[in-house]
Amino acid sequence: MDVLIHIFVGLHIIGIAALLGGFLTQMKAMGQGAARFTPAMLHGALTMLVTGAALIGLNQAQDTAVDNVKMGVKLALLIVILGLVYVKRDDEKVEKPLFGLVGLLTVVNIFIAVLWT
Ligand code: HEM
Repeated sequence: MDVLIHIFVGLHIIGIAALLGGFLTQMKAMGQGAARFTPAMLHGALTMLVTGAALIGLNQAQDTAVDNVKMGVKLALLIVILGLVYVKRDDEKVEKPLFGLVGLLTVVNIFIAVLWT
């Protein structure tokens, strides 16, 4: 079971790479109001949702306590991220504040994951 959990943490991190990488590569375009949500960002956000849910299930299956408040906060932030990226996925240009919010919430979720113990 431990191996399976580690595999899903790895997939969770691949999801972060796609979501945050998509954001970071477009910071210059964002400054000009010309950034867009790429398919990698949408798929990364969906990967976070699926692997995060799987990690909760796997941890509970082996009786490891999961902090429900921490998970609720992470899920709430991801729903905002996913909603924005999904609704605006076909827009050729996304306004700077909206694009910046997705990057900010992703970084906040990373620090919630590693600092909230
Ligand atoms: C943008 C969204 C997210 C980011 C950036 C993120 C980031 C991370 C990171 C960096 C870890 C590894 C932490 C460690 O092992 O110390 C982690 C673990 C985990 N994440 Fe996420 N996560 C996100 C969304 C979610 C969601 C939506 C859920 C659940 C619905 C979730 C559930 C989990 C679980 C259960 C773990 C393993 C247990 C733990 O470390 O607390 N994650 N996440």
